[in-house]
Amino acid sequence: MSEVGIEKMGFATTGLYLDMEDLARRRGVDPDKYTIGIGQKEQSVAPSSQDAVSLAAAAAKDALQGESLEGLDMVLLGTESAVDASRAAAVYVKELLGLPDEIRCVEVKQACYGATAALFWALDYVSRRKDRKVLVIGSDVARYGLNTAGEVTQGAGAVAMLISSNPKILSIEGDSVFMTVEAADFWRPPYTNCALVNGRYSMQIYVEFFSKLWKRYRQNTGKSAKDFEAFLFHLPFAKMGFKALKEVLKDEDEETSARLSKRFETSAAYGRRVGNIYSGSLYLALLSLLEGEAMDPGSKIAFFSYGSGAEAELFSATLKEGYFSQLSPSRHLKMIEERRRVDVDEYEHLFSDFPPSSPQDYACDKKYFSGPFRLVGIKNQQRVYEADE
Ligand code: COA
Repeated sequence: MSEVGIEKMGFATTGLYLDMEDLARRRGVDPDKYTIGIGQKEQSVAPSSQDAVSLAAAAAKDALQGESLEGLDMVLLGTESAVDASRAAAVYVKELLGLPDEIRCVEVKQACYGATAALFWALDYVSRRKDRKVLVIGSDVARYGLNTAGEVTQGAGAVAMLISSNPKILSIEGDSVFMTVEAADFWRPPYTNCALVNGRYSMQIYVEFFSKLWKRYRQNTGKSAKDFEAFLFHLPFAKMGFKALKEVLKDEDEETSARLSKRFETSAAYGRRVGNIYSGSLYLALLSLLEGEAMDPGSKIAFFSYGSGAEAELFSATLKEGYFSQLSPSRHLKMIEERRRVDVDEYEHLFSDFPPSSPQDYACDKKYFSGPFRLVGIKNQQRVYEADE
């Protein structure tokens, strides 16, 4: 198979964040539990005007800066924060970006695995149509609810990837292994906008899936941890990925363990501040690693994608010569640094101001408008978005 993979990447998050020490103090919890035990420092807070659509469009705009739209055939959006039970969020994204009508736009759902399913659909497509490209986006607002155990693992953001047969960042190999088993670790019934989660069980099953797939991957390929410069994980919170990484490190020598542990820390840096972005979170870890540390072209990277319910895939990729010139570390760090810190009262107010699940009209609070795209409100049961001029 000829080379296919990621040509360009983009990222977006909201303009507000909550500090996890502030949240811990308000909830009567030792701040070390949140910052060390769970491993989260901050979380992006989404006002109602920032949803899976507006964040996806912003990440796509970031990825497409300076790129020609020639050959773009599909927008595939992985999300579990659907804004409509029928219409794909990708259709709104296409309009906001002003993309031509000769395009396919589809939403892919399987919890946090959705963007990976979209990625493999895109890779198959561009390997058959070498002059075509696909935009794959993972975009979510992670909501567990005020005063819940999962609250510390919320967040909001999106990662967009341009997939082509000219993969200037990473070429993705055809060596993946995958599995699906029905499991009640995390789900969201249609009547609620917050996830339900058996948190400890989700950690257990995530590590189990990783161990099984890592074993199968090694049997299939004959590779070992020494062949990899980094392991990237779906990171709903940093500690979860670290638990899976320990499964790799337990059989490894000191040098391999030190290298993989250091790279894991770099890959978790953005996520510790942005929080859980569900389907985009594995790819935020990739961006965090590539923008946080110089690596040699040709380096092999392992990816573990996991979506509750539950489905997982383990695959590998190879870093391309000149990959760094395709990235924007200063722009992405600035997005994170320039968010405004909200206190717990303001966060709770924003969390509770969610569009109603009834036919009434709704207006988003203009005070919180930010980013290049926004949900303005709901009129006649239709979502109304706006873009910067
Ligand atoms: N200092 C340092 N660490 C501390 C601590 C302190 N004062 N107090 C507790 N901890 C540690 C615990 O030892 C534990 O670490 P461990 O997992 O290595 O054992 C960790 O902090 C969490 O403590 P725990 O008591 O398990 O927390 P919890 O019952 O509040 O739940 C989660 C934590 C992660 C299970 C919960 O936040 C959750 O359900 N999150 C969502 C999970 C999810 O998204 N799953 C699906 C996505 S794939």
